[in-house]
This record gives sequence, C-alpha cells and structure tokens, in this order.
Amino acid sequence: MLDDDDRGPTPRTGIMQITPYKGGEGKIPGVENPVKLSSNENALGASPKAKAAYIAAADKLELYPDGAARGLRAAIAETHALDPARIICGAGSDELLQLLARTYAGPGADEILFSEYGFLVYRLAAMQVGCVPVTAPETAYTVDVDAMLAKVSDRTEVVYLANPNNPTGTYLKSDELRRLHAGLSPDTVLVIDAAYAEFVDDPDYEDGIALATEFNNVVTTRTFSKIYGLASLRVGWAYGAPRIIEAIDRMRGPFNVTTPAMAAAEAAIRDTDFLAQGLAHNRSWLKFLIDELAPLGIVPNPGVGNFLLLKFPNTPGKTAADADAHLRSKGLILRGLKPYKLGDCLRLTVGREEPNRRVAAALKEFMGA
Ligand SMILES: Cc1ncc(COP(=O)(O)O)c(C=O)c1O
Repeated sequence: MLDDDDRGPTPRTGIMQITPYKGGEGKIPGVENPVKLSSNENALGASPKAKAAYIAAADKLELYPDGAARGLRAAIAETHALDPARIICGAGSDELLQLLARTYAGPGADEILFSEYGFLVYRLAAMQVGCVPVTAPETAYTVDVDAMLAKVSDRTEVVYLANPNNPTGTYLKSDELRRLHAGLSPDTVLVIDAAYAEFVDDPDYEDGIALATEFNNVVTTRTFSKIYGLASLRVGWAYGAPRIIEAIDRMRGPFNVTTPAMAAAEAAIRDTDFLAQGLAHNRSWLKFLIDELAPLGIVPNPGVGNFLLLKFPNTPGKTAADADAHLRSKGLILRGLKPYKLGDCLRLTVGREEPNRRVAAALKEFMGA
C-alpha cells in the first residue's frame, strides 16, 4: 500500500473510479489447452492471405506507417462502395469509440447515453472524458428506444448504440434505429457500433452506413477483430459525416494503426472466400447452439452475432457461477458478465465444431437434461 507521502500527482476527478476493462480469460490453472470461448473471437482464425501480408510487412519494420491509412481506407471504400474521405481507421474500433467521446464530450455536465447492457467501452469512454454516463433500461435484453429517448437531455453529446449489442446479442430493427435517430437533436452524435454487422442477415437490419451517409450527426464503427479474425492486431474503422471524421482525425495519434496490421486487414477484407467460410461456419454453429441450448431454458434470445447470451436460474447448484465452474472443469471458458450487472448470465462465443459440441453436452449435463 502507498502511504500519503508516496501518492504523487493526483489523477483528474473520476479517473480512479474507473474499473479497468478485463478481457476474456483464456487460462484455467492446471488445465492444458482450455478452449477460450470468452472474447467473441473468430472460430476459424484469420485468412491465410492476411497472415501472409502480415509476415511480408516484417520486411520494413523500420519505416513509420502511413498515418493516413490510404491503402486500407481504399480497400474498405471499395468493398463497401464508400467515399474513402469519410473513413477513418483506428487501433481497434475501441480507439474510435473513445476518440468520439473525447471529441464531443468534456468533463463536467456533458452526458453520454447508452443502454443498460450496452458494450462496456461506452461507460469507460464517458468516465475517461469525465462527463456523466447515462444509461437507459432495456426491455427483454434489447435496447428500448422510448427509454433511450426519455434519457436524452440538452446535455447529451453522444449516444452509443451497439447494433447488434454485445453481450446481449440483440439488435434494433431498421425502423426502430431510425426512430431513435429522429428523436435526437442534430447536435448530438449518434454512434452506431456495428462490430458484428457482417454476421447479421435479417432483412430488417441495417448497419448504419446509410444513416451515416444521410445525416450529419451519425457515425458508424466497424472492426477487423470479429469476422476477419484479426483481434490481436487492433484494427477498426469508422464511417460518417465528413465533419465528424475530420474532427476525430485531429484527435488521434499520428500513426495510430501499424503497417503490419493495415497490411493484414487489407488482405483480409479482399479475401471474400475466407469471409464466406467464416459466415457459413457461424450461421450453422450458432443455429446448432441455439437448437441445443434453447430447450434447456437458458437462451433468453436467439442472438445474431457470433455469440449467445445464456441466462441461468437462481436455484443453488444451477446458477451462472455453478455453470461456469462445471464448464471450466471440462476445460471450457465462457465470459462471466458481472461487470454488466448480468451476474446470472454467461456469454458463449461460437467456436469450432468440437468445442461447440462439448459445450452443448456439458450444459445439458449441468441442467440435468
Ligand atoms: C460491440 C462491440 N464494439 C466494439 C468492440 C471492440 O472491438 P475492437 O477489437 O475493434 O476494438 C467489441 C469487442 O468485443 C464489441 O463487442
């Protein structure tokens, strides 16, 4: 423990109240090769072409990256038919989410709004800035547009919406998303975090790109960490109104994304065959997990990403903590959700065939089915 004399400079008010983000666990003491299903990583890994591009980039490690990420922005623009001038790349979409808070909200009375079970980084971003994090209750683990709009004030600078959301796996349909946007002032930035957009094929889903094209107060973020399997490299991008992109561009570090990461991301986005394989894998194994686990009464909603929210009873012996211990005894690591105040839930990432079957069998055994 530090005594008062050793304490040194005092951080800004609120900084020490931040609970640091903890990534999904990957180790179980005494267990060799546990299966990590705790971070919504890609079950199939990364594209071989992305790996080759990453290795090739090792040849020029002495050179600074292209700070403007021209090659990667061009590849993203081509893939999604977008104007590259409206795209910015970041060290993971996390960086871009944080830059948005820092750009539009300041310490004091400014507010940042998100839903009750919204992705944890939103609260972190608000607290790092020193503004007021405001949450709106959800209904059936889904964002409730009326509840969100009821929490909007003239101090709301940023609204974050993960669509679909992690950890709940639910999404706002297009008409509801547009109703949320319509209820906001043109001075409030609506951030549509579409980290899992590629996985969703429901016709009533939209990823935010059209809204960000139409309106000056909308920006959408995407990531290479999920379907592209490049989480370790930290690459994300945002697309939005030119004024928003130009503003956050001024807030980023000059070389915020590394050359090998950009090279791998560019190869990954062009490898449409690998993308198709990943999507097909997720579609069939997500369905398998829902079909196997829903009859156990532990799937509160079907989920549309590469993960499932599992909700356990409060009965002693059958709780989420008990389920977690049972799964760990079999070398299977899911994500506990206490930081989301979802202590009765676990989050399961879709894995490869063998772990998916093992999880289903272990949970059937656990629930006594
Ligand atoms: C909803 C959501 N947004 C953003 C991210 C962050 O992704 P990245 O790896 O691009 O920082 C995640 C990662 O889990 C997520 O679940």
